[in-house]
Amino acid sequence: MTTLLSLQTARLTLVTPSTATAAAAHAYFLRNQRYLAPWSPPAPPNIDTLAFWQDYALKARDALTQGHLVRFWMFRNDEPSTMIGSFGFSQIFRGPFCSATLGYQIDEAAQGQGLMFEALDAGIEYMFGEQALHRIAANYLPHNVRSARLLTRLGFRIEGYAENYLFIDGAWRDHVLTALINPRLTAPD
Ligand SMILES: CC(C)(COP(=O)(O)OP(=O)(O)OC[C@H]1O[C@@H](n2cnc3c(N)ncnc32)[C@H](O)[C@@H]1OP(=O)(O)O)[C@@H](O)C(=O)NCCC(=O)NCCS
Repeated sequence: MTTLLSLQTARLTLVTPSTATAAAAHAYFLRNQRYLAPWSPPAPPNIDTLAFWQDYALKARDALTQGHLVRFWMFRNDEPSTMIGSFGFSQIFRGPFCSATLGYQIDEAAQGQGLMFEALDAGIEYMFGEQALHRIAANYLPHNVRSARLLTRLGFRIEGYAENYLFIDGAWRDHVLTALINPRLTAPD
């Protein structure tokens, strides 16, 4: 697989992480650290340094090459040097499962404009089309109303409820489990 992917939408450029965009990711993190904390797992050491994000970009590139992770960083076409969000398809399994788990976040100031929907719509199309996945799972805290609305708009269906599912914001938290199925993939590639 390639080491750098890029997708275009009407308002956005979506690129897989590289050291060239690590400074933008670092600035995005510093701007949004407090806003994202209630939705986030424990932060790794040094996450507030540029060196962390350069190293993160290299690891994400390797994971992309190995087929474990497809992460995209989001940039507005009319403001191309400022990163405004991130989403990733992790835990990619092939064979009879053909599945991944989706996570996403957008800059606090960029919420409420349909930009996350626009980005995920393109990302999912890529994962179902080019990557030939059959299933994408996405799970959210029961009180994360914005996330629930976004997934519903994208066509995700609720599959269940998991107690003490993920360690988020300092405690094990229940999650609503959802998934989207690719009707075009009739058998694993
Ligand atoms: C969850 C999250 C990504 C949702 O972001 P969002 O901006 O609300 O999502 P969307 O891109 O779907 O935008 C929808 C909003 O844009 C509005 N909108 C404006 N223009 C629009 C357009 N052209 N198209 C679609 N929606 C548009 C919609 O009406 C909706 O507004 P509303 O929430 O006031 O009803 C964001 O809240 C976030 O990053 N939260 C913190 C991290 C997090 O929770 N991650 C998920 C963990 S499971």
